[in-house]
Amino acid sequence: VYLGIDIGTSGTKTLAVREDGEILASATVEYPLYSPQPGWSEQDPEDWWKGSVESVQLVLKRGNIAPEEVKGIGLSGQMHGSVFLDKEGKVIRRALLWNDQRTARECAEIEERAGGREALIKLVANPALTGFTAPKILWLRNHEPQHYEQVQQILLPKDYVRYRLTGEFASEVSDASGTLLLDVKARQWSSELLSKLEIDSALLPKVYESEEVSGTLTSTAATKLGLPAGVPVVGGGGDQAASAIGNGIVSRGAVSATMGTSGVVFAHSDEVQIDAGGRIHTFCHAVRDKWHVMGCVLSAGGSFQWYRNQFGQPEVAVARDMGVDPYELLTTQAAQAPAGSEGLFFLPYLTGERTPHADPNARGAWVGMSLRHGKSHLGRSVMEGATFAMRDCLELIREMQIPVEEIRVSGGGSRSQFWKQLQADVYGQEVVTINAEEGPAYGAALLATAGTGAYNDVVEACQATIRVVTQTKPCETAKATYNQAYPIYQKLYQSLKSDYL
Ligand code: XUL
Repeated sequence: VYLGIDIGTSGTKTLAVREDGEILASATVEYPLYSPQPGWSEQDPEDWWKGSVESVQLVLKRGNIAPEEVKGIGLSGQMHGSVFLDKEGKVIRRALLWNDQRTARECAEIEERAGGREALIKLVANPALTGFTAPKILWLRNHEPQHYEQVQQILLPKDYVRYRLTGEFASEVSDASGTLLLDVKARQWSSELLSKLEIDSALLPKVYESEEVSGTLTSTAATKLGLPAGVPVVGGGGDQAASAIGNGIVSRGAVSATMGTSGVVFAHSDEVQIDAGGRIHTFCHAVRDKWHVMGCVLSAGGSFQWYRNQFGQPEVAVARDMGVDPYELLTTQAAQAPAGSEGLFFLPYLTGERTPHADPNARGAWVGMSLRHGKSHLGRSVMEGATFAMRDCLELIREMQIPVEEIRVSGGGSRSQFWKQLQADVYGQEVVTINAEEGPAYGAALLATAGTGAYNDVVEACQATIRVVTQTKPCETAKATYNQAYPIYQKLYQSLKSDYL
């Protein structure tokens, strides 16, 4: 039995997985998020530790798993967060998270110190974004020097949990890529950028490959969790790379499109491929010596959720009375409007946008409304807008000549046949779903199977456990409609940008 622990933003999810991929038990423990000022987003690393301990205990109990059966642990977690530790290994202040927006000035400072945006992209493959870790480190130095003085070690969220589990300061290449301090090509810290930013490399942990064993359970941690001491803990992955492993995105041509609140389009790549404009992230993959590119849409499923909350009555109440999922009714309603929503467009930038605009100030819009349009058009246009935003990411990947041979869809956008079909029509390509849809914790557990010898490597682990279960081909007429509508969708952001800021 292998444990995958994912330190998410809303909670920690632990899965117990058998070597053949079968899931034995799952548990999630939630914790709060703090926003002491607008745009700030913080969590208490102690909550992550408690969430990990409790969810592991729950999983052992629910799965009726004897402690000695556990052969390995894999970690995954929200990326980019910063945990600052003092010389005793104690947390100095709450961690700043991936969605924290306070560091615009520090992003500019990083570009300047690096010798410009292009020079920065050359060093670490990505431009400075407010969510990344390096700007958070500079923010601490600029705004809380009394705290910065005490810093002896800087860790990512899952790597803090690793420290509590194993006593080791360690990270792995996929999550480390999102710090903006990793030489993504060489898969090691960029000493050049560190020196330009005047950050001591001793503050950073040792970097492993994702399936490598990074340490073993200490006896203190083992007692807390109810496991034997010495269980190996592998590197694991940032949540997006781990999720891609869980989706089997481990070879050339494989791409995933995951629509949760946010939407992520993730493509495996055998080489380091960098968008010179920095519009898409290039990070190390959790597969040894492979990379990935990734586009992130901030409000994909989130847009439809907003639509349900604001415009979903009386359907939501009716659905509740009927005992069906409100999304099912709203989707059926949306399906009554024709493809293209008769000229109604929705821009899903409700919380700004990351890919491809990197514009925290972008805002949503409905454009093209007429008397003909009713609620079914409103609903359908929201789903179409979110899917066009995903296509923006996909087009960047195609433009970079990264092959897109198979698109695996998951999350809310793949639950209904309607949205699955809509994705195939908008992407202009078949979409498929797979047997296990358990996200990053599943990928983390697979990394543990590979790292502890159950498989030769994580690619073999994926091949043994993951298979395609549904295939949805595009409908040619709808595909043609969307091919005509898509350039208009793209133009709308450009035309509106200067007015809604
Ligand atoms: C990835 C990203 C999010 C976080 C939180 O770049 O910002 O996916 O990892 O889930």
